[in-house]
Amino acid sequence: MDKILIVGPASQMLGMRIAQELNIRAINTEFKTFPDGENYLRINLEDESVIKEKEVIIVQSTGPSSSGNQNARLIELLMMIDSLKRMRAKKLIIVIPYLAYARQDKIFRPGESRFGDLIIRIIDSMGIDELYVVDVHSSKILADTYSKITNIDSMKILADYIKSLGAKDIVVVSPDKGAVERSKAFAQYFGENTPVDYFEKSRDVNTGDITMSGKLSLKDKDVVVSDDIIATGGTMATAIKLAKESGAKKVYAVATHALLLQNARFRILNAGADEIIGTDSIDNEVSKVSLAKLIANHLK
Ligand code: R5P
Repeated sequence: MDKILIVGPASQMLGMRIAQELNIRAINTEFKTFPDGENYLRINLEDESVIKEKEVIIVQSTGPSSSGNQNARLIELLMMIDSLKRMRAKKLIIVIPYLAYARQDKIFRPGESRFGDLIIRIIDSMGIDELYVVDVHSSKILADTYSKITNIDSMKILADYIKSLGAKDIVVVSPDKGAVERSKAFAQYFGENTPVDYFEKSRDVNTGDITMSGKLSLKDKDVVVSDDIIATGGTMATAIKLAKESGAKKVYAVATHALLLQNARFRILNAGADEIIGTDSIDNEVSKVSLAKLIANHLK
């Protein structure tokens, strides 16, 4: 079956890289926001019959950027799925490198919505065949779907990049006890006995403010502080400051999805990070590790 890849507005670099890896035709989109705030999107083709009976892959991240917030990105994704269904694609494969709302996976305060689950249920109910996400914040939200869902793990390629920088005598530090299992899995890629440690973090559910504490044995170590998401950089910056106070020599701030909102760049570098490293799930200046090969291998 012929394959076509639709490069969503939010994943132009990564979408093209995946199409090149797969050696398949890429089609972009025309998109804009109407004066009343509604989104518009069309698949950029003149002849709809090119889609009929084809296997079509959509690549669209849903992180915020200057050309659209996460709500707009989700609406664009739904529009792409809807138009491809209407054009009678035979198989529809959705790749969402960064899945927005995945942090809303449980009820923190009375009256909330578990919106992360709902996003998945909406996409799943549209008659798609396969859905791929990368290092999703909570895999719980992927349970109970009709379509085949895969959570791709980017830890090995992130570790390979850090090793290529010459980091040695590494300790992997988790900014949060809850993420320590993830950090343990990550540490294995630096060598079997790579130590893992963590700080104690808590977040006020009303204000969102974080507090973190701990003193670790990091003297003269190269420290990799790893998280799935860097949003405002508060978590990462606090962990880096504590790592430096614990004697760390070099500190690498690593996240699969480096959204870098507000003053995140300043906060993290000011706290003492030597480098910020993310993947191209979010297209910005720290997307140093491309997910293209990894995702393409899953799609082959
Ligand atoms: C939370 O559980 C996530 O894993 C990240 O730690 C969090 O999203 C980071 O947010 P921020 O950069 O705003 O502190």
